[in-house]
Amino acid sequence: MIHIAPSILAADFRRLEHQIQAAEAGGADMIHCDIMDGHFVPNISFGPMIVEAVRRVTDLPIDTHLMIANPEAYIEPFYEAGTDYLTVHVEATAHLNRLIDRIKSLGMKAGVALNPATPISFLEEVLAEVDLILIMTVNPGFGGQTFLHGMLDKIYRLKLMCEARGYKPHIEADGGIDEQTGAAAVKAGATILVAGSSLFGQSDITAAVRALKQKAVAATQKTA
Ligand code: DX5
Ligand code: ZN
Repeated sequence: MIHIAPSILAADFRRLEHQIQAAEAGGADMIHCDIMDGHFVPNISFGPMIVEAVRRVTDLPIDTHLMIANPEAYIEPFYEAGTDYLTVHVEATAHLNRLIDRIKSLGMKAGVALNPATPISFLEEVLAEVDLILIMTVNPGFGGQTFLHGMLDKIYRLKLMCEARGYKPHIEADGGIDEQTGAAAVKAGATILVAGSSLFGQSDITAAVRALKQKAVAATQKTA
């Protein structure tokens, strides 16, 4: 089962409600919220207030991706804003296990993200605990960057590592995803595709989501 997670980072915030509804009409499975603080990444996006506004316009799961320093301080605010999946970067905390526990104890699904240069071996001790692993397929901080093709092998090796140990977390590819790179990521083992500019940059967002999903589903069928 492949999920499409449109990233509102690329949306027109004047028309956020309409654009989320357009994505939903095309078969979006969750809404991806990119939180940037100007410290962990060199850009600032938005905080819990916007997540809370998203919560009021859709019933889809909210997939919040924290690209922030000191994520420990912001677990509750993003939970209260209506987050369903909360993902933290391995590189942003010294106490990953404690953070995962806190996320799950609030009833959210716990995700862990890896920057392109961070090896999948960093996940070994938490693999049993996580619901989602986010593989950055660009360096985090900005939408509209070029997909790093070297990350396909990383996704594949992660999939093999999970299978070998009997775990089935979602594997989420994030950054530079369009119909071509999305299909390649799915063939490598991704189960969630995050896409911002390739969806919200189109005049027909509904059609763009639908097309991405069709290509992604077709990619699973070719490998089956
Ligand atoms: C990058 C973010 C991504 C980003 C994807 O730092 O984590 O979620 O919004 O945007 P596109 O699809 O434009 O690369
Ligand atoms: Zn993201």
